[in-house]
Parts: sequence; structure tokens; C-alpha cells
Amino acid sequence: MALFLTVLEVDNELIKTLTQGRVMTAIYTTTSHLLQQQQPELPLYLFHRPLLEGNVQRFMAGFPGLVTYAVKANPNPMIIQTMLEQGMQAFDVASLAEIELVQGLAWQAGKRVALHYHNPIKTEAAIAKAWFDHGVRCFSLDDELELEKLKRQVPNPSETELSVRFVAPEKHDVQLDLNSKFGANETDAAALLRLVAEAGFKPSLTFHPGTQCTEAKAYSDFIACAARIVKASGVELHRLNVGGGFAANYLHSQAPDLNNYFDAINSAVAEHFDVAPQLVCEPGRALVNDTVSLLVKVIHRRKGGQVFINDGVYGGFSEMNICNMGWPYLCWRGDQPLAGQVADFTVYGPTCDSVDVMPHHLPMPEQLAVGDYIEVPLMGAYSSSVATQFNGFQSNTYVQVTQSSYLTIEDGATMPKVSGL
Ligand SMILES: Cc1ncc(COP(=O)(O)O)c(C=O)c1O
Repeated sequence: MALFLTVLEVDNELIKTLTQGRVMTAIYTTTSHLLQQQQPELPLYLFHRPLLEGNVQRFMAGFPGLVTYAVKANPNPMIIQTMLEQGMQAFDVASLAEIELVQGLAWQAGKRVALHYHNPIKTEAAIAKAWFDHGVRCFSLDDELELEKLKRQVPNPSETELSVRFVAPEKHDVQLDLNSKFGANETDAAALLRLVAEAGFKPSLTFHPGTQCTEAKAYSDFIACAARIVKASGVELHRLNVGGGFAANYLHSQAPDLNNYFDAINSAVAEHFDVAPQLVCEPGRALVNDTVSLLVKVIHRRKGGQVFINDGVYGGFSEMNICNMGWPYLCWRGDQPLAGQVADFTVYGPTCDSVDVMPHHLPMPEQLAVGDYIEVPLMGAYSSSVATQFNGFQSNTYVQVTQSSYLTIEDGATMPKVSGL
């Protein structure tokens, strides 16, 4: 069957650049169905739309405030469009390119959205463009130099929210600690919050406990710290943004039930604040991770259990070199799962760089051969969004495959699974 490929029709060069994007318009029910119809040459992201719908609805039903989506986790148009359809009204963005992407897609969908420009360090030109051209009214900052930039560029502080990013003293169980780069300490945050209010902006606080934060208690600690900052500053807080960080489920890093986070947030606000602030959250990973699987092709096999695949650590697999969370995977031959005697393989990516190799040996069916496929679920977050085009390889084509093989297996089907990437 002829393959119908189309570039998403958005008249904006930035959007095409950011998504590098090809989105296939066909919809398949399962991976097997897809492989019956086509044997893709390039890495292909399989988007399980019903899972994203469920994740968005769970967050919106349970979180006691405004849910925004951190676009950086996955800016693919299919993801953003689904979020918009599910009622997502606000987005956390880190750059003008993300702002233009979301506004373009929202405009196409006939929706108005709020954009929170929550990168604490911005150029003055970007602040001005965001405020004047894109109507952005929420920014974050973590030092006085950034406040000076915002004061110079924002003509109307009273309609602009500035969220001071702060860091709590406690350490928590996270995969990446984002607070080594951003976040004022308690004392500096109180002083900065006061300056924000004195300059006439709406004073808010924001934090991020670190990505893949499996400890709900982290949110309690940060909220307690926020209350101390507010008290020390003497300022009436406009909103408290509790960040992203909510964990997704991987093989070696299990997420607590979402309600544990929400309960911890509710209890901490009740315990530490006399007047509860309006709450905002900006999850990325937890919303998208299980909603996408990455299908890659075996392009070469050498003696000694060495295989080369068409994507690697410069593409969708970059987190595998940084985090040790454990991804499952399934092997396919044609449209059938590949089983049988298992052997250990060294798995190389397609580039000429020798670091382009999976960090562990992978047990896979011994008969694995050129032309077979490996499907890696739990690849919705920080995969295509951080993929480079090193050596000319691209990893950013999406297609809808309604069911996730992985979650079907978890539900009791018999497809063989080997795990542990
Ligand atoms: C400011 C900010 N908000 C939200 C997120 C999303 O975090 P996560 O994907 O861990 O939920 C990030 C991630 O880097 C971030 O920097």
C-alpha cells in the first residue's frame, strides 16, 4: 500500500524546524497492524492517543488548580493538538519557538491559550517579543538581573505575573536535579519576591523538584519552603506553581499514584499557608511518557552479537545515557513478535560516533536479523524533543497507533517481552 506522508500544514517555518516534522496521517490499531501495512526505514514514534487523553483527564480531575503542559517534554503537533482538544488551556514554554508553535496550533484549533514563559533566563529581545507580539503575561525569574530586564521590557507590570523560582534545602529522589542550575535560595527568594511586588508585578512563586521525582514528599518540602518565603517577604502571593517533576512509570523507576502527589500538595498547602494561594502545575514527563513508543529497525548485524539500529543516543535514545530508569522493548519480524532463545547484544546507533551505543548489553532473540524491528515503549518524554540531526539522521516522525503493545501486555496478553534497556 502506498505510504501517504504529509508535512503538517502549518504556515510557520519555526514550527517545521522545531518539530522537524513529519506526521503520518494514517491511523493504525496496533504495532502489528502498522507493520502489516509498512516496514518503515526511519525511526517511527507510535503515538497512543487514548493514553494521552487519559493522562490529561487524570491530571485535570485530580490536581487542585490549573494544569499546564511543559511543552519541552514533547512538542510534537499530535501531542499539542490532543492536549488542546482535551481542554488544556495553558502551556509552560521555554523559548519563542515553543511560544510560536503552541500559538500556531491553538489558532488552528480556534482556541485561546495562556503561555507561561518559565525559563528563568531570557534575552531582553525575547521578553519584549513575547509580551508585545504574543501576549505572554507570565514569566519566571530567579535573580535581580532578570528582574531588571523584565522591568525594562514590560510596559504594564500590573497585568504581568512574575514567578520567582526558588529551591528548597532538602534533597529528593529525582533523576535530574534541575536546581543546580536554577532557583534562588530561601533568603534570596524572599528578597526577590518583595522586589517583584514593589515593581508592581503580580508576585508568584514557582519551583521544580527535579525530573522523575518519585517522592511526593518533595512537594510538601517545597510548599513548606514557599510558605516561609512568603512570610519573610511580607507579600501577598498571587499563585504558587508546583512545577513538573511528577514521575512516569519505567521498569526501574516506579511512579507513585498521582493521587499521592495531589494529597501531599493539598495537605502541605493547608498546613503551611493561612490563605491558600491559587495553584498551578506544569508536568511534562508524567503526561506524555507512556503515550509514545519508538519503533526502530535493525540495519546491520555483525558476529559477536553486535547490531546497529537506525536510531541512537544522538536521536530519540539520549536519556538512556543520562538516566537509568529501565525501558522495556519488544522485537518484531514482519508483523509478528520475535521470540525464541535469547542472547546478549551490543546495540549501536547509526552515527559514526563510538559513544553512540546503548549503555548496557541487551538480551534479545538470538535470531535477530537485519530488517527486524525493536519497539521501545515509554518514549514520549525527552526523546524526539531532544533528538539531534547529528550525521544527518532524524528521529521525529510520528504516526498514530491506537494501542500500546506494552500496556496491552501488562493487561495480560501473551506477547513476549524482554526488558531492561
Ligand atoms: C520550568 C520547567 N517546568 C516543567 C518542566 C517539566 O518537567 P517534567 O518533565 O519533569 O515534569 C521542566 C523540565 O525541565 C522545567 O524546566
